[in-house]
Amino acid sequence: MSADIVAAGNVPATAFLTALARARATDDPDNLLRDPIAARFAELCPTAIRGVTRHTAGAAVVVARTVLIDRMLAELFARESVDTCVNLGAGFDARPFRMAWPAHCQVIEVDSAPVLDLKDELLPAATAGVPVERLRCDLRDTDRLTALLLPRTAGRLCVILAEGLLTYLPQASVGALASAVAGVGMAADWICDVLSPDSARSLTRASQAAGAPLEMHGHTQLTLFEAAGWRCEQLELLPSARLTKAAAGSRAAASSQLLPDSVLRLRRR
Ligand SMILES: C[S@@+](CC[C@H](N)C(=O)[O-])C[C@H]1O[C@@H](n2cnc3c(N)ncnc32)[C@H](O)[C@@H]1O
Repeated sequence: MSADIVAAGNVPATAFLTALARARATDDPDNLLRDPIAARFAELCPTAIRGVTRHTAGAAVVVARTVLIDRMLAELFARESVDTCVNLGAGFDARPFRMAWPAHCQVIEVDSAPVLDLKDELLPAATAGVPVERLRCDLRDTDRLTALLLPRTAGRLCVILAEGLLTYLPQASVGALASAVAGVGMAADWICDVLSPDSARSLTRASQAAGAPLEMHGHTQLTLFEAAGWRCEQLELLPSARLTKAAAGSRAAASSQLLPDSVLRLRRR
């Protein structure tokens, strides 16, 4: 069954590449990341996709981003009693299965049907220690997304994750998503990551050269989120940002509203 889902070719390369980067990092004793579940998905990664991030900082960025988000999430759980975690573009993320997770914090994962069908096969929701619900939805369809999320999160304190997602959405879709998720729960933190146009272009070119083209988008405007009522409370640089001039002081970059390659924690109260 899982082989049939992969053979149909509708699981995006990006979901596999993320699992592959995490599985390789987990095998490396010098790496901080431990995601023993990633190998289940990485093993199914089609050969044509495996070379996409070769000769790029792509895999290092994925692993650094995952470690940063694990830390931000653990800090948030330690500070606040989060009721619901909404994971947008959840892909093969296994956090509720591999991290210390608050017993009362339910999880809602959103992604396309082929991704979640494969995940149901390899990592059944029922095997998590907390309730995990998987919703099939195109995240560009924000009317459907809000119809799904609002009744499930009303009156709840939420954290929203969007790891590795926004770079696959054009600016207008990110703005629409920011507005849609601003209505989730009675209050929310939103942890997401952005890439600069330069980084997005170089990863797009690398994927084209590898024969598995991905279309990536840079997002540098904090106003994209602020216009929807989000305030940036934390910004952590990704390794690709450390290589660019744009990263000359993450706080300076954020205050001038030009975002470097980074993980953000936004808040709406
Ligand atoms: C780079 S992967 C990251 C997956 C996951 N967040 C993780 O860290 O393992 C991006 C994910 O976003 C999902 N995605 C991208 N565009 C989407 C859309 N328009 N609707 C639903 N999911 C989308 C892909 O299917 C993929 O699983």
